[in-house]
Amino acid sequence: MIKHLLSAADLDAVTATQIHDIAAEMATVAGREVKKLPTLRGRTVVNLFYEDSTRTRTSFEVAAKRLSADVVNFSAKGSSVEKGESLKDTAWTLQAMGADAVVIRHPASGAPHRLTHWVHGSVLNAGDGTHEHPTQALLDTYTMRSRMGKVEGLNVAIVGDVLHSRVARSNALLLHTLGAKVTLVGPPTLVPPAFGSLTPSLGVSYDFDSVLPHADVVMMLRVQKERMNAAFFPSSQEYYKRYGLDSARLRRMPDHAIVMHPGPMNRGVEIAPEVADSPRSTIVEQVANGVSVRMACLYLLLGAGR
Ligand code: CP
Repeated sequence: MIKHLLSAADLDAVTATQIHDIAAEMATVAGREVKKLPTLRGRTVVNLFYEDSTRTRTSFEVAAKRLSADVVNFSAKGSSVEKGESLKDTAWTLQAMGADAVVIRHPASGAPHRLTHWVHGSVLNAGDGTHEHPTQALLDTYTMRSRMGKVEGLNVAIVGDVLHSRVARSNALLLHTLGAKVTLVGPPTLVPPAFGSLTPSLGVSYDFDSVLPHADVVMMLRVQKERMNAAFFPSSQEYYKRYGLDSARLRRMPDHAIVMHPGPMNRGVEIAPEVADSPRSTIVEQVANGVSVRMACLYLLLGAGR
């Protein structure tokens, strides 16, 4: 049994499938009048967020509360971090308060790993810098399984700002583990050659239009302007023309293929509003599945057999 969830590489196919199976059971709780299980009663889950988040923070909070855990939300903004308190001292403070699990989002890659040295409980990586976002990959693969019936054998195109994307890295790793074929697509400035060697089966393409007819899943990535300290493409209009998913490109995808996006979206930059809102898009479903998958992760790390 795993204690921490720091990287999608921590997950073998059996564990990832177990999380998907538990998430499918957890999803039934959402349909009940009383959306609560007693599994984590008396346990404390701390959400420690040093970076902005809408989906991940709220879904971890809902997930922990549905399992009856006590939840503490800690945001760096408005805390003693702004007075210069270090991550280590913050971790010790949380440890003194009896945190059983710490869900951490941090702008520094590797911060969740450091945290495991300073707290006794489980650490769940909710996104660290440009490194990883493993629960996002779990909810994305869960969504693929729900929509397509399987993950193994799927052709998945991950498109856009791969360079800055922890979502791309975690998905590439987990999709490989689960037997899907991944192609990274984007301008050469945003699809670094080093990414191509992340897994043996990873493909790289700079021609979005040639990839579309063969894709079962097209996963669009947000252009992360806040992490860009140089000009990676001439203009947003030029980027959209080459790598934006508009209605014409949607029509070139196979009829069964789905469109994904982890959010938040830049409508009109990487995806057209009508594509984001189309029945082929799983964007809202991904958010709902995020709660079930995070319930499954908390259950496995804190609940089952501990
Ligand atoms: N997908 C994702 O991580 O969204 P948030 O930044 O809103 O958590």
